[in-house]
Amino acid sequence: MSWLPMHSGHPLMVHLPLVALPLAVLLDALALRRPGGPWRQMATVLWLLGLVGAAAAVTTGLIAYNRVEHSEVGHGVMTLHRNVALGAVALLLVSGVVRWRRARWWPAILVGAAGSVGIAGAGYLGGEVVFRHAIGIPTEVLEQVVRERGGHGHTAEPAGVTGEAPADSESSDTAGRPAPAHEHQPQDTSGHSH
Ligand code: HEM
Repeated sequence: MSWLPMHSGHPLMVHLPLVALPLAVLLDALALRRPGGPWRQMATVLWLLGLVGAAAAVTTGLIAYNRVEHSEVGHGVMTLHRNVALGAVALLLVSGVVRWRRARWWPAILVGAAGSVGIAGAGYLGGEVVFRHAIGIPTEVLEQVVRERGGHGHTAEPAGVTGEAPADSESSDTAGRPAPAHEHQPQDTSGHSH
């Protein structure tokens, strides 16, 4: 499947289930309190959209899992993300099927609420996977980014603000150009692929 991008389309698929399924559970809870309103029908539409979206997110996630470049530490977080996502989708599926057969039944809503917390957790971990562990970013691109950033961030107090010399006085040359990347070695340098 070399024609697929490395993320396998996963980032395109995750947002629909992340929004639609917790909202569906919320509307089912509202229908429990106010049986006369349109809440249950609205929830049904969201359940359908959300479960189709979850199937797409899980499929693309599993494909991406087997092909993205990642480190050993990143591998652990990615596996946790997968397990939390699969558990959450399973709970939501149970809730979605049960509410079909038995309308306005609070235990189904409770299971859906647990699944919603789970899918939000999976979304958070997905962010960690990408934004902290740079999973899926090719190593040569990462190296280029480190070179282009000159190894500095934007959290340091700019020189002159405190009246003190900057802690890292080698971070730019006299013309203000960034110095090459420092020697900060990431804790986890071992590459990992499946
Ligand atoms: C409904 C379930 C899932 C949700 C809501 C979800 C959510 C996310 C999110 C929000 C990200 C960060 C990237 C972005 O912002 O788009 C992400 C990344 C990732 N997820 Fe998931 N995920 C799900 C299921 C899975 C599963 C079952 C796997 C299987 C291992 C997986 C593997 C990955 C991988 C490898 C990445 C990093 C690379 C990429 O984005 O493709 N995900 N996920």
